Amino acid sequence: MTELLQADTAGIARAVALLRAGELVAFGTETVYGLGADATSDRAVAGIFVAKERPRFNPLICHYADGEAAFADVVANAQARRLAAAFWPGPLSMALPRRQGCTVSLLVSAGLDTLAVRVPAHDTALALLREMVCPVAAPSANCSGHVSPTTARHVMDGLAGRIAAVIDSGPCPVGLESTVLDLSAAAPVLLRPGGLTIEAIEAVIGHVRRVDQTHRTGALRSPGLLASHYAPKLPVRLDAMDVQRNEALLAFGPPLQGAGAVFKLSDAADLTEAAAHLFAGLRKLDEDAASLGLERIAVMPVPEQGIGRAINDRLRRAAAPRP
Ligand code: TXA
Ligand code: MG
Repeated sequence: MTELLQADTAGIARAVALLRAGELVAFGTETVYGLGADATSDRAVAGIFVAKERPRFNPLICHYADGEAAFADVVANAQARRLAAAFWPGPLSMALPRRQGCTVSLLVSAGLDTLAVRVPAHDTALALLREMVCPVAAPSANCSGHVSPTTARHVMDGLAGRIAAVIDSGPCPVGLESTVLDLSAAAPVLLRPGGLTIEAIEAVIGHVRRVDQTHRTGALRSPGLLASHYAPKLPVRLDAMDVQRNEALLAFGPPLQGAGAVFKLSDAADLTEAAAHLFAGLRKLDEDAASLGLERIAVMPVPEQGIGRAINDRLRRAAAPRP
């Protein structure tokens, strides 16, 4: 049985007790719900891979209550410190070399000599991390390859019975995963667009190299970034200019007419609002499909700017050929 905990003092205390005992607890952050484990325990971290049925080669993000704690485990360069000062707590994960003596399980790095660290901007998550003292490794709290959860119910839908508890802190305000930057080499590289825009990052540290990993399948620098990821059950058709009765429509701005079902990401064509609703929308249309006999999700075009880049990244992965 998976316990559903309130995001209050008692709920957080219970979550901490479970995590300290090596159990898995899902918790809300500003981006998506994470599936947390004591990052210093090999056994607890291994449990994450089992619960998610995640391929073992995919490294996890390590969560901290503040930048000082994060930089005790990795070697931070000047750029990392500037970014932390500007954007932490917030939706930015930085991959940096593991510091000698770092007690985080090697499983979290999945064979890399770097560790991705982040300080989430979320009261419940920060309260949990402060009480835990040790870092918490947490991938998104979904089965591997599925859409990330942005509510406690989404977590339960995928992982009930496989994890000890979920703290229900309501819907995640950003709705997309953190931006992942590799700062372990001389030049910074964007590994995953996300909740913090590349424009904001470049305003602080200058040019950041983009690596388009959407079509790569070989040795990935960030192994989680497989072409097909964030996949709903239905096939996905991008940049729809019209829609058919047998299709569900994911609408951006005023919806096209004629779809079998519609989910509105944002009536006002607001990118931030659309990001917050993206994963809930894909899930909702999957659910509608079963009862309405729909065969595909048609997606209206989303502008490639600001957080729209991260939305389009997730949509392209959702539309990519499935393995
Ligand atoms: O917003 C988020 O980042 C959420 C919340 C829970 O914090 N977490 C999340 O974790 O999305 P996950 O495991 O679903 O995605 C982590 C991504 C993967 O693409 C993984 O390959 C990459 O970060 N990553 C983790 N550690 C890395 C490392 N040391 N070097 C390169 N990439 C890394
Ligand atoms: Mg994920």
